[in-house]
Amino acid sequence: MTTISTTGLSVIDLSVGFGKGAKRTNVLDGINLDVADGEFVAVVGPSGSGKSTLLNAVAGFITPDAGSILVDGEQVTGPGPSRCVVFQEYAVFPWLTVEQNIGFGTQLRTWSGDRSQRGAIVDRYLELMGLIAFRDALPKTLSGGMRQRVAIARAYAVDPAILLMDEPFAALDAQTREHMQEALLDITRQERRTVLFVTHQVEEALYLADRVVVMGARPARITEIVEVPWRSERHHDVKLTTEFIDLRRHVEHLLHTDG
Ligand SMILES: Nc1ncnc2c1ncn2[C@@H]1O[C@H](COP(=O)(O)OP(=O)(O)OP(=O)(O)O)[C@@H](O)[C@H]1O
Ligand SMILES: [Mg+2]
Repeated sequence: MTTISTTGLSVIDLSVGFGKGAKRTNVLDGINLDVADGEFVAVVGPSGSGKSTLLNAVAGFITPDAGSILVDGEQVTGPGPSRCVVFQEYAVFPWLTVEQNIGFGTQLRTWSGDRSQRGAIVDRYLELMGLIAFRDALPKTLSGGMRQRVAIARAYAVDPAILLMDEPFAALDAQTREHMQEALLDITRQERRTVLFVTHQVEEALYLADRVVVMGARPARITEIVEVPWRSERHHDVKLTTEFIDLRRHVEHLLHTDG
């Protein structure tokens, strides 16, 4: 029995397939997941297990075969400003400066207050993402990591009910990726947001998220949802603790036995 929450995300008995007629295959099979308001949930699973499909269904890019998705109690029927997606390919507008890209996010915002605050909001995210010095730069002059900072800042500027991130750091080198994880943690400490974050890296998932959803092979079901115990004490050294290493092994074992 699923209780329907009026805040955060509720995925209820979600099934998604692709292809027509006899060729149709079921990719997601009866997924149930609740993400509380302000919670950061990561999704890991073997390649092809439907992680992006789940995220795209929440974004409203895919119509499910069965089940429903609710964001703040409202049924998802297509894309909308309640959900903002950050993709792997640093999807920023190449003809707009860093400041204008983030400013674009504020235009999508569902305003309840004073629109003259726009500039202050842009400044806030420029600062939180370490972009002040690059305010007037065009994306082509920035590194991949910086561009992804712009994409994340723009998504935050929209102020969506839920942020969806599909392997946002996968194209970055290991060192930049670690910097980006810290940047994301910083912004998460300053502003709690509801986040659904897809990643291939178990370590990244356990480091960033409050809970980690482990998906099984196709048709994908949730194998286990792992509670992350370190939450507020999240800092780089946590990765070296026995607790972290044991949990990482546990998740990797789940992935290998079901993948
Ligand atoms: N638009 C589509 N049309 C047909 N099949 C699709 C479509 N999108 C996804 N699939 C299939 O659904 C399955 C799940 O794909 P999905 O992209 O969700 O996996 P994933 O877990 O995100 O994989 P990866 O880790 O490689 O990104 C795959 O077998 C894929 O081929
Ligand atoms: Mg994917």
